[in-house]
Amino acid sequence: MFHPTSPIETERLVLRVHVPEDIDSLYEIRSRPDVNTYLYSEAMSRAEVQAKLDERIAKFSKLTEPGDSLLLAIVRKDTGVLIGDVSLAWLPGDHRQAEIGYVLHPDHYGQGFATEACQPLLWIAFEDLNAHRVRGRLDARNTASARVLEKLGMRKEAHLRENEFVKDEWTDEIEYAILIREWTA
Ligand SMILES: CC(C)(COP(=O)(O)OP(=O)(O)OC[C@H]1O[C@@H](n2cnc3c(N)ncnc32)[C@H](O)[C@@H]1OP(=O)(O)O)[C@@H](O)C(=O)NCCC(=O)NCCS
Repeated sequence: MFHPTSPIETERLVLRVHVPEDIDSLYEIRSRPDVNTYLYSEAMSRAEVQAKLDERIAKFSKLTEPGDSLLLAIVRKDTGVLIGDVSLAWLPGDHRQAEIGYVLHPDHYGQGFATEACQPLLWIAFEDLNAHRVRGRLDARNTASARVLEKLGMRKEAHLRENEFVKDEWTDEIEYAILIREWTA
């Protein structure tokens, strides 16, 4: 179980639950086609982003049982700007599995922010949820995302050939993972 009662701090970032005032920053990110290139989603309208934000605040602000997801805003300490979000899904079932995800505004790519923001999620997964394994999944063309998972210490476990039909084309999916004993070591 993990109920964030206060923001989580890393060296350069604060991770916190979403608030209604995040709408403008979230819209700026989610309305961009380039951000959505390797996501299942498309560029969103303001109404769609508002619905997403409302859902996050109502349903994705704590992890109580398997099946729950946590979505946290990433805020830069130096500017106070919301630059993206990270997610931790506690996967349903008895297998003690979790999955991480991340989306940043392109102005902030390439500075190690996604990797830095994901590190506390591994702590939460292994320490608070007692997860046995944490995975990350991505479109095989998403090199930056693969690099984030490698920098987090994950192993590439699978390259699935054309296992999904996304945005009118067959796409390959790659899965990375780390076990609790690998993370502890
Ligand atoms: C994936 C994403 C979160 C990465 O964020 P980020 O803050 O730039 O990530 P980091 O800076 O921690 O690490 C990125 C790494 O990828 C590398 N990289 C970036 N673009 C790359 C590219 N086109 N080809 C190869 N490597 C690339 C960077 O050099 C860096 O590696 P390095 O530290 O060894 O130099 C960001 O690109 C993003 O939000 N993309 C859109 C949403 C998305 O695809 N989310 C992931 C879904 S699985």
